Amino acid sequence: MGQVKTKDALNRPLRDLRISVIDRCNFRCQYCMPAEIFHDHFQFLPRNELLTYEEIEKVATIFAELGVEKIRLTGGEPLLRKDLPRLVEKLVKVSGIKDVALTTNGVYLPKYAKELKTAGLKRVNISLDSLDDELFKKINGRGVGTASVLRGIEAAKEAGLGIKINMVVKKGLNEDQILPMAVYCKERDLHLRFIEFMDVGTTNGWKMDHVISMKEILRILQEKFELEPVDPSYFGEVAKRYIYRDSKTEVGFITSVSQSFCSSCTRARISADGKIYTCLFTGKGHDIKSIVRSDASEEELKAAIAKIWHDRSDRYSDERMMGSSNSREKIEMSYIGG
Ligand code: GTP
Ligand code: 5AD
Ligand code: SF4
Ligand code: SF4
Repeated sequence: MGQVKTKDALNRPLRDLRISVIDRCNFRCQYCMPAEIFHDHFQFLPRNELLTYEEIEKVATIFAELGVEKIRLTGGEPLLRKDLPRLVEKLVKVSGIKDVALTTNGVYLPKYAKELKTAGLKRVNISLDSLDDELFKKINGRGVGTASVLRGIEAAKEAGLGIKINMVVKKGLNEDQILPMAVYCKERDLHLRFIEFMDVGTTNGWKMDHVISMKEILRILQEKFELEPVDPSYFGEVAKRYIYRDSKTEVGFITSVSQSFCSSCTRARISADGKIYTCLFTGKGHDIKSIVRSDASEEELKAAIAKIWHDRSDRYSDERMMGSSNSREKIEMSYIGG
């Protein structure tokens, strides 16, 4: 069984796998894990429900046989999972996997960046939505200042990891940080991506009015900078990239709301408790942990995963743009990762 494609007209190949290793986070970002919902008594997944590193390795090996070349580890906050470099070490050795990356809030990078790099990690995406300390404390809901994340960025740089900075932009919250963040990242040659606030999950109070589109962000940037578009570097690239005319630094936009990109969506997601989600905006996961923990053969597991991808027809963001996305059950981003 070679590369697996969907049976729908879009015929999208499976290329990327995002693995959530934990559903907990030390932050409570208001657009992702509002503190009122994810309070001190919130029931996160019990440890025995999480796939072990050996189980994740087994699943990743099968995904690689089905065409996956890139793996991204996410959370919650993935560095809250004990001994994450040990998992990275296993995943980089999986035949067919060319790239292992991590999405993190950056706070634990001073502790782990070197070890992760030694284990074979190539790149980190670090979330930072504001350079204003008070605003950042408010956004992350835990009163954590920007210095903790800036130290994480520094540590990633020193370790030699590739870095992208993710900034979710929400109207009325942090649009005044668009220019300061652009200046900060440009001066340090950091690739910044502006992410349109998305209607993931059901708890973040999303409204279309809260979205600042790429077009609006670009207009703000163009008041200060000259930018040129860059061609996509591979099929299914999520970010629309630009380059500052007077430097080599790039800036990108994730336009899930204003310009959807479902027709080239090659990403499968697996939750920490072993469910496959074929779209960020679905409520229905396909349990594979029970297969992994049964005495089913690898061929049986492979056939089950191939069927899940083959049967997929998700295109939620396209449907939202066409006005036909209905109020459905959706998983939380903290559960499935970015
Ligand atoms: P790679 O270079 O391909 O590893 O990815 P990247 O560095 O562009 O980052 P990533 O794919 O994690 O995308 C950044 C952000 O875009 C994520 O944190 C999500 O907010 C959003 N995003 C990523 N994939 C999807 C997707 O399939 N659908 C939607 N709607 N949003 C996505
Ligand atoms: N809209 C857009 N991006 C989000 N993220 C989390 N919640 C949202 C949302 N509602 C992204 C953040 C973070 C990554 C893990 O997920 O960019 O960097
Ligand atoms: Fe914030 Fe990321 Fe944690 Fe969500 S998972 S609360 S976006 S740090
Ligand atoms: Fe892929 Fe779903 Fe995002 Fe569309 S909305 S790009 S199908 S994850």
